[in-house]
Formats: sequence, structure tokens, C-alpha cells
Amino acid sequence: MQKEVVVSGIRPTGFLHLGNYFGAMRNYVRMQDEFDCYFFVANWHSLTTHPDTKELQNSVYRVIAENIACGLDPDKVALYVQSDIPEIAELYLYLNMLAYKGELEKTVTFKEKARAQPDNINAGLLTYPVLQAADIIIQRAVKVPVGKDQEQHLEMARNFAERFNYRYGDILPLPYAFNYGDELIKIMGLDGMGKMSKSENQQSTIYLADEDDAIRKKIMKAKTDQGPATPNSEKPDYIQNLFTLMKLVSNVEAVAKFEFDFNASSTGNCVIRYGDMKKQLAEDMVQFITPIREKANAILGDKDLLHKLMKQGADKGRSRAAETLKMVRNAVGLNY
Ligand code: TYM
Repeated sequence: MQKEVVVSGIRPTGFLHLGNYFGAMRNYVRMQDEFDCYFFVANWHSLTTHPDTKELQNSVYRVIAENIACGLDPDKVALYVQSDIPEIAELYLYLNMLAYKGELEKTVTFKEKARAQPDNINAGLLTYPVLQAADIIIQRAVKVPVGKDQEQHLEMARNFAERFNYRYGDILPLPYAFNYGDELIKIMGLDGMGKMSKSENQQSTIYLADEDDAIRKKIMKAKTDQGPATPNSEKPDYIQNLFTLMKLVSNVEAVAKFEFDFNASSTGNCVIRYGDMKKQLAEDMVQFITPIREKANAILGDKDLLHKLMKQGADKGRSRAAETLKMVRNAVGLNY
């Protein structure tokens, strides 16, 4: 039986962090044995914010290295750089004819970016979701492992594929956001403000490249409070975030102990000691990140290997992309 096709991408706009790992990369690693997987570095997407050229180049290498360090096997999956697949740009052109200015202007990420960079509201920013749809549709993917922040982009990709099928015949499968759990994940910053991010909020974001002491320092500074006022209270979101992280890196006994302590706490009888919880979390996080950091650094030091793997990934990625483009050209009437 043919395996279902999976696509996902990461923008090389800075160091990868726990949000990227738990929202996306952890799923990539699990999916590589079950599905036909295409993972890539979305370097065209990062041009919307006009990055420094040298930094962009280094970030592309880093994203490839960190993906492998997290467990992706470049022999099992196609791991490539977006700009090495020119077929994506051609499909982007066709999909742009099916995307409307009004819907693009209403996209949440567009509105956020337009607010953040009022002097650089370029056409690439407006059509960002169309390029993302082209990334996915070029491999005819049905599953797209992403974090919660990408939900709307996935909905748009589905709309564009549906519109294409309606106009030109039913040739494109519809893609859906995917996570192994019930819900898409959002990892918040440790200050309880917004999500962990590659470029903002850096003191509250834990990066896969962080040294042990930086990890400890950031976690010990994470926002907490005096504890719950009544037993079995609902957790404030910044406390929930610490529990979420603990569930991801600590053993079940540790999580169970702090859950029990939280539920047994009330004003005047605060059983949970957030200081102890953070210490435990910090040590478990160090254990989790150290091997990833060390492996990524070793791969980054070997540019020949990186180039070889990038070429191998591009060859795999282009072969299915060319097939799709042929189908699309035929459907649109561009076959002479
Ligand atoms: P990017 O580069 O911002 O993030 C890469 C992946 O990490 C997830 N993520 C998070 N998950 C949980 N909590 C967080 N704090 C958090 N921060 C990031 C993102 O959801 C994403 O899965 N537009 C995409 C890149 C892209 C793409 C694609 C993705 C381009 N083309 C095609 C899938 C398919 C982006 O900016 O992700």
C-alpha cells in the first residue's frame, strides 16, 4: 500500500526552540517510519522580513543540522531547502491566480507582521500563505505536522487546493494540520507572555542550542505565583506551560508528584514548591537538550556532509514535485 504523504517546513529566521521541537519536529521524527515524508527549510519565506544574507545562510545550515540532531534520518525522508525546488515557485504562480486580496489581507499572521513592520508590507508578505500552500501541494501532501499557530495557513492551503480542483478538475488531495495528540501544540514563553519564538522573546525561549547554564537560568526565572487559592484549582496558563514542558522532558513520577502537590495546595497551605519544580524541570531539560546541541554542532562543523545531504534531499524533493507540476500544467492547459 502507498504511504500517505507528509510535508512540513521551518523558516530559517533564528535558532530553533522548544516550540519548534514539540510543535513540529518531534512529530516529524515519529512520522518518518510511517509515512512518505518531505521536510524542508523555508528560506524563501524568510525573505519577507529582509534578513541579513550571511545570517540567512548560516541559519539554513543550522536548521538542517538541528533537524538531523533531533532524530530525522535523511536517508528515510526527503530533507531539502525550499529554494532548491524551483517547481514550488511555478506552482505558487498558478495558486496566486486563485487567491484573493481580501482573504490574504485578513490572515492573522499578515495583520501581525504588517503591524510589526509597517515600512515593509511587501507583496511576498501578503501572499505568504499561497507560497506555503505551494510547498504542501507540490508534494501532494495530506498530513502537515505543525504547531497551533499554523492552523489558519493550513485552512487556506486547503481552500486553494479545493478552488484549483473546482476550476481544473479533481487532481489535488486536500492537506490537513496534524499532531499525534488530540490538539495542535502551543508552547508559551517562560514569562507567560506570548509563544516561544525564534526572533522575539529570547530570554523566555529555550533554544536547542542553549548551553546548560543558560537553560537553568531561564527556567529558574520562569513566571510563577504564590500558588493556588483553593485545592484542585484551574492552572493559570504560565503554570500550565511549566507542566506541559515537564510532561515533555521529565519522567511520569516527577510530573505526578508536582500535579499532586498543586492540587493539594491552597492559600495558607501551599504544598507545591515552584522553586523545586523549576529545579527538576531545569535538570531534565539540560539532559534533554545537551545531546541535541552537541550533535547539531558536530554536523554544523562538517559542511561537506551538509552539502551532500542537501543535494540528496533536493533530488528526492524535486522528483515528486516535477510529477505534480506536470499534472498541474496539463490540468490548467499549459501542455503544448
Ligand atoms: P515556523 O518556522 O515559525 O515554525 C516551525 C514549526 O514550529 C511550530 N512552532 C510552534 N509550535 C508550538 N509552540 C510554539 N511556540 C511554536 N513556534 C513554532 C510551527 O507551528 C511550525 O510547525 N509558515 C511556517 C513555515 C512553513 C511551513 C510550510 C510549514 C512554510 N511552508 C509548509 C508547514 C508546511 C512557519 O513560519 O513556521
